[in-house]
Amino acid sequence: MLKAVILIGGPQKGTRFRPLSLDVPKPLFPVAGLPMVQHHIEACASVPDIREILLLGYFPAQQLQQFVADMIAAYKIRIRYLQEYQALGTAGGIYHFRDQISSGNPDAFFVLNGDVCGDFPLQEILNFHTSLSTPSLITIMGTEATRQQSTMYGCIVEDKETHQILHYVEKPSTFVSNLINCGVYICSPDIFKRVGEIFNSRQDFYSCEDSEGTESIQLEQDILMPIAGTGQAYVYTTDRWWSQIKTAGSAIYANRHYLQLYHKTKNERLAVNGPDKPTIIGDVYIHPTATVDPSALLGPNVSVGKNAVIGAGVRIRESIILGNTTIQEHSCVLYTVVGWNSTVGAWTRLEGTPCDPNPNKPFAKMDNVPLFNAEGKLNPSITILGNDVKVPSEVVVINSIILPYKELSASTKNEIIL
Ligand code: GDD
Ligand code: GTP
Repeated sequence: MLKAVILIGGPQKGTRFRPLSLDVPKPLFPVAGLPMVQHHIEACASVPDIREILLLGYFPAQQLQQFVADMIAAYKIRIRYLQEYQALGTAGGIYHFRDQISSGNPDAFFVLNGDVCGDFPLQEILNFHTSLSTPSLITIMGTEATRQQSTMYGCIVEDKETHQILHYVEKPSTFVSNLINCGVYICSPDIFKRVGEIFNSRQDFYSCEDSEGTESIQLEQDILMPIAGTGQAYVYTTDRWWSQIKTAGSAIYANRHYLQLYHKTKNERLAVNGPDKPTIIGDVYIHPTATVDPSALLGPNVSVGKNAVIGAGVRIRESIILGNTTIQEHSCVLYTVVGWNSTVGAWTRLEGTPCDPNPNKPFAKMDNVPLFNAEGKLNPSITILGNDVKVPSEVVVINSIILPYKELSASTKNEIIL
C-alpha cells in the first residue's frame, strides 16, 4: 500500500502568483478547467496502490474543505487536508504528521510539490524505486534543464550507471549540474528517522529567541544535501513535460500542456466542433454550464469556466476565462486570464505577451520573470484581470494587470491598475 502527500504551502507562499491568488488559494486556481492540485490528485488516484492522499499546508482549513469533499466524491479515494500550525518547511510538515502518513503501514509514500505541473510518471517512479538493489530512502524525479536555468532549482549529480545521487545542491550560485529536482519524490517511511534526528538536534535552537518560534525543516537542505553520496538517495530522470507554476504567466503555459495531456486520457473534456457550436481550433475546455455563442471562435489553448457567457463573434486564444465572466460580442482575448465575475464589453481587445520557454533551446524551462524590471517598469507579461473587474466596450488592454473590483474607464498599456 502507498500514500501520497501534496505540499500546498500557505497564504504567504505563491506571492509571485498574485493577483490570481488574492481570492483563491493558489493551489485551487483553475488550470485547464481543474484546480491546479486536482491534476496532482488525478495522477495519484490513477496509481492503483495509492490508498490515501494527504494535502499538507497552512491555509485555514475552511478554505480547503469544499475542495476536499469534491475530490473525495470525484475520485473515490481517501483524501484529507492536514493543516500545519505554522509553515513547517518542506520536510517539517511531513514529520509533524508522520503518524497520519505512517498509519496502515504504507510501503512508501509520494511527496509532490503543489506548485509544479506535468505529466507525472508516478507508476514509473514507483517501479524504479522498488526495483533498486539497495533500498532507497528517497528517490527524486529529475529532469534536464539548461545550464543557465539549472541554478534556479535543486541540482543533482548522479552516478550514471546506478542512478545514485552523489551530490545535491539547492539552487547553487554557480553551475553544478543540468539534472534538476522536479519536486516529486517517493520516500521510504524510514525517512522519518532522518527527519527526527534533525528535529531533535534542533530543540535547543527552536526554543531560543533567534529561532523566532519557527521550527521549519527543509527537505532539500536538511535531508537531501546530507544524504547525497551515502548511497541512500536515487534519481529517476524523465523527459516528459514538467514545469513550475510560480508566476501568473505560467498558468497559461500549464493550461496549454494540461489540455494537450487530455488527448491521452481525458479526451471527453475537450470541446469539439459541430452544428450550432462555436468554432474550436486545437485544444479547448468549456465547462458544461458555460454559454458560448455559435459564432465565437475559440482556441487553441483556451479554458472557459463555470457559467461564463461568451458573446457573438468573440475570438479567444491562449487564455483562461474563469467562472461567471461575460465577454460581450466581437471582443478579442489573447494571452489573458480573466478573473471570476468579470465583465468585458463589446469590441474590446485584451492582449498579453506570452511567457513561454525559449523554443530554440532544448530543455529550456519558463523564466519566472518578476513583475517589475530593474527600472521599476512592468515586465511584458500576460494580461490579467482580477475578479469582479469591469472593462468597457471598445477599449484596448495590453500587457496590463487589473486588480480585483476595478472598473476600467479607458484603454491601458503596460500598466498595473490598482
Ligand atoms: N505544507 C507546506 N509547508 N508546504 C510548503 C512549505 C511549508 O512550510 N514550504 C513550502 N511548501 C510547498 C510549496 O507550496 C511548494 O509547493 C513546495 O513546497 C516547494 O516549495 P518552495 O519552498 O517554494 O521551493 P521551490 O519551489 O523554490 O523549490 C523546490 O522545488 C523545485 C521544483 O519546483 C525545491 O525542491 C527545488 O529543489 C526544486 O527544483
Ligand atoms: P499567428 O497565427 O500566430 O501568426 O497570429 P495572427 O497574425 O493570426 O494573429 P494574432 O496572434 O494577433 O491573433 C490571434 C487570432 O486572433 C488571429 O487568428 C485572429 O483571428 C484573431 N484576432 C486578432 N485580433 C482580433 C480582433 O481584434 N478581433 C477579433 N475578433 N479577432 C482577432
